Amino acid sequence: MKKLLNFLTLACCLFVFVACGKKDNKRIIRISHNQAQDHPTNIGLLEFEKFIESKLGDKYDVQIFPNELLGSQVNTVELTQTGAIDFAVASNAILESFDDIYQIFNLPYLFDSPEHYHAVMDNADLIKPIFTSTSKSGFEAVTWLDAGTRNFYTVKKPINKPEDLKGLKIRVQQSASNIRMMELFNGAATPMGFGEVYTALQQGVIDGAENNELALTSNKHGEVAKYYSYDMHQMVPDILIGNLKFLNSLSPEEREIFNQGFVLISQVQRDAWTMSVEKAKNQAQKDMNVKFIYPDVALFKEKVLPLHGEVLNANPKLKPIYDKIQEIGKNMQKEDNK
Ligand code: GCU
Repeated sequence: MKKLLNFLTLACCLFVFVACGKKDNKRIIRISHNQAQDHPTNIGLLEFEKFIESKLGDKYDVQIFPNELLGSQVNTVELTQTGAIDFAVASNAILESFDDIYQIFNLPYLFDSPEHYHAVMDNADLIKPIFTSTSKSGFEAVTWLDAGTRNFYTVKKPINKPEDLKGLKIRVQQSASNIRMMELFNGAATPMGFGEVYTALQQGVIDGAENNELALTSNKHGEVAKYYSYDMHQMVPDILIGNLKFLNSLSPEEREIFNQGFVLISQVQRDAWTMSVEKAKNQAQKDMNVKFIYPDVALFKEKVLPLHGEVLNANPKLKPIYDKIQEIGKNMQKEDNK
């Protein structure tokens, strides 16, 4: 029934969109994401809206749809593919089913630190082939957004060591890599869309989930899940994707302005990120009574590192990217030790 309702909602959206593609002769640009209005991603996108409309406002009207209003991330990637909407923010996790090159950033413990993660994601030579990999599917990535570090959080049982995950039903994003990661942790992976997690926690359909701290407050998961354990298993970026036909329809001058806008989103979003995480932690601790746990990360890492070899063997095109990521990390460590 829920699937039917979702389908009908999307069908209605599509109908309305096709019927109202223009407003005051302006081309409407629709951007979808699944975060709340106070989330850094929405803040970054609002700056993009302002910027594009200040430069090209006679021609374009940018409209942002937060909170899964246009559907889950998987749905909105598909809408971007067909051009029913122009842009969507998607977690890297789900993009691996559109091109398996995206598996690389779903590997647990791929990065040594947030600095390493940022340096890799900002490395244009490394990122470009990944961002353009889905052009055959009608969309490309135009920038990345920080989504922090992913950690386990649970309703009843605190996770102090990997063995505590045994048999627990843990929500993961809809990706084969995440399901395999949970298998290696001996938990029971329960893939579902982000918007369904709160109810699933509340109704006991799952015992916990994994995400950054903002999920506790911005998505209110901390109302139900009272233990948040810093095992730091992944840093999975969010990716802003754009419909390729639309991007190619821009004149070189317009494209240049859009490119500046994409850089702006990423800067504003990342500037807002650190403060938002601090705020979320305080709020979760004080107002929601969430307990933060700091387990021995090395024990968790040991369990899932075999996934690196498995994925690289099955998908050899990832090896040069993986090696480059390791090299960047090692060079950063050398610099730090100087
Ligand atoms: C984070 C991420 C989202 C993703 C969500 C999830 O919030 O920023 O893009 O959808 O995790 O776990 O589904």
